Amino acid sequence: MKNKRLVLAARPNGLIKNTDFRMEEVDVPELAEGQILVKTKFLSLAPVMKFYMLDGAGIEQPLQFGDTMRGRGVGEVIVSKNPRFSEGDIVHGKFGWQEYVVSNVQAYDMMYKVKQSTVSPSTALGVLGVTGFTSYFGLYEVGALKANENVLVSSAAGGVGSSLGFLSTIRSSKAVGLTSTDKKKKLLTEKLGYVAAINYKTEDVSKQIDAYLPDGVDVYFDNVGGEILDIALSKLKRYGRVVSCGRIASYQDGSGKNQSYALKNWHMLGATRSKMEGFFIYDYEDRFEEAEANMIQWIQEGKLNYHEDILEGLERMPEALNRLFEGKNQGKQLVKIS
Ligand SMILES: NC(=O)c1ccc[n+]([C@@H]2O[C@H](COP(=O)([O-])OP(=O)(O)OC[C@H]3O[C@@H](n4cnc5c(N)ncnc54)[C@H](OP(=O)(O)O)[C@@H]3O)[C@@H](O)[C@H]2O)c1
Repeated sequence: MKNKRLVLAARPNGLIKNTDFRMEEVDVPELAEGQILVKTKFLSLAPVMKFYMLDGAGIEQPLQFGDTMRGRGVGEVIVSKNPRFSEGDIVHGKFGWQEYVVSNVQAYDMMYKVKQSTVSPSTALGVLGVTGFTSYFGLYEVGALKANENVLVSSAAGGVGSSLGFLSTIRSSKAVGLTSTDKKKKLLTEKLGYVAAINYKTEDVSKQIDAYLPDGVDVYFDNVGGEILDIALSKLKRYGRVVSCGRIASYQDGSGKNQSYALKNWHMLGATRSKMEGFFIYDYEDRFEEAEANMIQWIQEGKLNYHEDILEGLERMPEALNRLFEGKNQGKQLVKIS
């Protein structure tokens, strides 16, 4: 049996090029005791992956040339030599960009079984996976959202952002989302539970926040950093919370290095007695089951909707990763492999 995989061939400079990867075809090895062989169904895309190609983002070891590109996936166990897994099990974990995965199922692989069969297994990479759990713990734990509060979200139509409208409503609060196109604005208000949306490229963001949230922002969920964070700081209410989740606005420097942005409104934290707090989603790993159980229940009850943006074919992974930096994805970006 042959496996196709994409390995790192060059470090990116600006947008990713197909030549930053090399497609390899190799034999699938015989399984050792304790291992499983998984056939990939979907692979996930996340902004942090660009840093895996550069320096590891302080989370992982930097990839070396010839290493299979790192990333999460979901697929079916087709051979098992591990008593904890059976053929036919659907699992998600650290697959890498490849069609078949041989896993030792060790802690590093973070290989979990998908137990639900209500919705597509692809959701294990989106709303019912680490992406959705980032929305859940970011908003409820770090943001400590209470009832009747005002939430502002940047990159609201992205993977993490696309659950935050409904998660706000579920807590009897309301969310306004920022995005870059009018098409995505419509998606936010018509399908993703946001009460209003702002096109930060064509509208006056400050004025529009005042129009939709005249008494200010209780929780700003920050996926982008930079100028939008600065404007959001100036809108905080007393005892506001800024959830520092990501900073994609500073990811796109041509050199691949982070661009820093000097905040002008940081003093608003003091003036409003607000907090700004970062978090790393895997610190909540022991509570992932709780988040998954709640999120699946809300989906079944029609309280939580989700949106996936799916390309097809392993060779389209570089294009799919670029879509995040080009603002092309609507909802969670995935690639269907089989
Ligand atoms: N703290 C954690 O543990 C943790 C865990 C997971 C993810 N994250 C972070 O959370 C954020 C969201 O992750 P995700 O996977 O859901 O990605 P995502 O939001 O789907 O990222 C892609 C989106 O980012 C926006 N974007 C791209 N370039 C931008 C720019 N220069 N300025 C403003 N917005 C820009 C675009 O949306 P628009 O077209 O609407 O602008 C694009 O569609 C990322 O920053 C990620 O690194 C953090």
